[in-house]
Amino acid sequence: MLKMKKTLTLLAAALLLAGSCNGPSSGEALLLDKDNIPEIVKAMTLEEKCHLVVGGQQKDVLDSTDQILMASTRKLVPGSAGTTYPVERLGIPAIVLADGPAGLRISPTRQNDTASYYCTGFPTGTLLASSWDPGMVEAVGRAMGEEVLEYGVDVLLAPGANLHRNPLCGRNFEYYSEDPLLSGTMAAAFINGVQSNGVGTSLKHFAVNNSEINRLACDSRVSVRALRELYLRNWEIALRQSAPWTIMTSYNYLNGVYTSEDPELLEGVLRGDWGYEGCIMTDWGGGQDPAAQIHAGNDMLQPGKDWQYKAIYEAVSNGSLPESELDACVSNILRLIVKTPRFRGYAYSNRPDLAAHAQLTREKAAEGFVLLKNENAALPLAEASSAALFGQASYRLSAGGTGSGNVNKAYVINLDEGLANDGILLDGETDLAYREYTAAEYARVDEANAGKKWYQIPEKAQEMPQASLEALAEKAAVNAETAIITIGRNSGEGTDRHLKDDFLLSGDELQLIKTVSAAFHAQDKNVTVVLNVAGVVETASWKDMVDAILLVWQPGQEAGNSIADALTGLVNPSGRLPMTFPESYADVPAQNFPALELNTGKNDSFLRFSKEKLYEVKDVDYIDYKEDIFMGYRHFCSHCENTSYPFGYGLSYTVFEIEDLRLKKNSEGWTVKVSVRNVGENPGRDVIQLYSFGNPANPQTCPSRELKGFAKTKVLNPGERQSVSIELNAMDLASYVEERSAWVLTPGIYAMAVTADSEDFGMSFGLEVKREREKATGDYLHPRGSVSDRLFIDK
Ligand code: BGC
Repeated sequence: MLKMKKTLTLLAAALLLAGSCNGPSSGEALLLDKDNIPEIVKAMTLEEKCHLVVGGQQKDVLDSTDQILMASTRKLVPGSAGTTYPVERLGIPAIVLADGPAGLRISPTRQNDTASYYCTGFPTGTLLASSWDPGMVEAVGRAMGEEVLEYGVDVLLAPGANLHRNPLCGRNFEYYSEDPLLSGTMAAAFINGVQSNGVGTSLKHFAVNNSEINRLACDSRVSVRALRELYLRNWEIALRQSAPWTIMTSYNYLNGVYTSEDPELLEGVLRGDWGYEGCIMTDWGGGQDPAAQIHAGNDMLQPGKDWQYKAIYEAVSNGSLPESELDACVSNILRLIVKTPRFRGYAYSNRPDLAAHAQLTREKAAEGFVLLKNENAALPLAEASSAALFGQASYRLSAGGTGSGNVNKAYVINLDEGLANDGILLDGETDLAYREYTAAEYARVDEANAGKKWYQIPEKAQEMPQASLEALAEKAAVNAETAIITIGRNSGEGTDRHLKDDFLLSGDELQLIKTVSAAFHAQDKNVTVVLNVAGVVETASWKDMVDAILLVWQPGQEAGNSIADALTGLVNPSGRLPMTFPESYADVPAQNFPALELNTGKNDSFLRFSKEKLYEVKDVDYIDYKEDIFMGYRHFCSHCENTSYPFGYGLSYTVFEIEDLRLKKNSEGWTVKVSVRNVGENPGRDVIQLYSFGNPANPQTCPSRELKGFAKTKVLNPGERQSVSIELNAMDLASYVEERSAWVLTPGIYAMAVTADSEDFGMSFGLEVKREREKATGDYLHPRGSVSDRLFIDK
């Protein structure tokens, strides 16, 4: 710490000495400033450039050159994911990069230091998206960014914006939605919030990284149209509304080429079609050919290895990689560095406002909760009512996911505590029995999980044995006014979820729901299920057994308080589903997905990472995105397939009426305006969704529903009304036509509707497009054969 401060002071002094002039006068050292980047690039040796494009963990090199500001994450902000390589003679500091989407991930404690460095566990990405409220997401991002700044980190490795193609993807909790508009809008809001602190973000993982198993060697094979309309569309939207300092490429191949080695994806689409000007970095250890990465315009390789340095050095030396291409990457990295707090010499405090952020987390999380069911006015719970709390997960809520999306937070509020804080009286006997049972059960699983690696699925606690449960439930049903059962699920980086005991509720969980419901219904009392889950679970087979279901995802460290606030009606849950809850897994359109039974106990994400690209095993070495553009609700709506809960769905403790639809044409498109009135009895917020109903010229070739806009009201009191508007650009109704490499808007009347969710018909209307319009793109990303003959550099 001391050494680092000293180095920073020296650096700051050196910068001051450099003054504001662009070039040094004779005898003065040339030091980086924001206006002299070309000069610095010219002054750098080939060695320095090759080091800079490779991250700070080039151990062999660093050890031999005795750098003090070495990029080992143990020295600069312990526990961060990586740094850039410092070149001190030119005033280029190492900047710090750290995860992740639900809050800053650094070590909470440090050697020989009694202080703690906990960060706030904020709600996960999926919960943020469920709010359908970019303003809320921006506020959370702002708070997160303050922690990034005050803990001395320069770039937050977030948000994650891959689409939820299949409910079993292990990292879906970090991502937003199955819809590109919702996903892109949320990503932009997050980026704007974090970056308002003068720190950077890394929009990740670009692109089409929709599963974890074998993620370093798997080829996502997708039609160009599905790429443009879905899997690239969310990035395009995010980049229209924000300017992330960096973008992180993904691990996978896309149509035959590693994303980090693909000039078509990076130079063609990202920089060419979309005009992205920031810095592009690899995911940690992504790709295999460093020279190809630099050639493709992937500016920085993280976390950086000596062999990568050598490969790039050799490629430039032997002329196979033009030095000008290396220079372009170096310039992009320097443009990033000059924006950072570390370069500016910001004196970070190590004291972010954790108390304020905990309060914000408590309030905002509840806005993303989705009320899936509420019969017999089961919710909100009456003031000072009594409840019997069931389910082992109630006593160990899941605040966030595992892997790099985890946050080292100081505490997690459990549901018993949260309910007590909100004045709900817990049935004493049930509470005591659960405390005793979970103490022993958690000790058992903790011991079983102790030696497990980060990518191994931890053993899950079991529910209370049936005999004890039955007796407990029967007594509780007499003594308490209502029952609450928590069902918990976690998931994380490195592996995908499983069908059995994960997507599907396990036998003991179903038995729990059955037993408690039978006991409470016999006494004419309600049962509520709280779903504290990282991703979609099956609901169709058991939802009829209970009266209310509140989906709380993973709400962050104030979980118990946020959930209690929603159960008691202190906050009216106003979330809407950002993905479909299918009736059964067999209905999911994206059936091509890594095999479910792999579970080898090894690191599933590295399963078949080898020198040769192997295309042998379907859905492991390659995944054909056969559902094409009919992914998620686009499939369910177009093929009239039943869902358990549709995309966009969510109830409220109040009732809204939408009226007075008005359309106003402008040069770009239309403004769609409606008035929303709270006609119920509680304050609450509504979400307005605007869908198109397919292309009038080619109805069968387009999804019959696509989200084209949305808006969320403020909190409306009973009787209160608010006018909300949605801007629609005419080209947002266009489809991508591969043969023309263009977005094409065909003339005709486009059927539209303002609705409550993707299955609702709401208020419909037509929009007339009089003449065809076209927006050309580059012709990129067609399948490019086997990569087994590509240059491989031996590590
Ligand atoms: C993850 C990234 C993360 C990086 C650094 C990788 O394994 O895929 O999302 O940012 O590690 O921790």
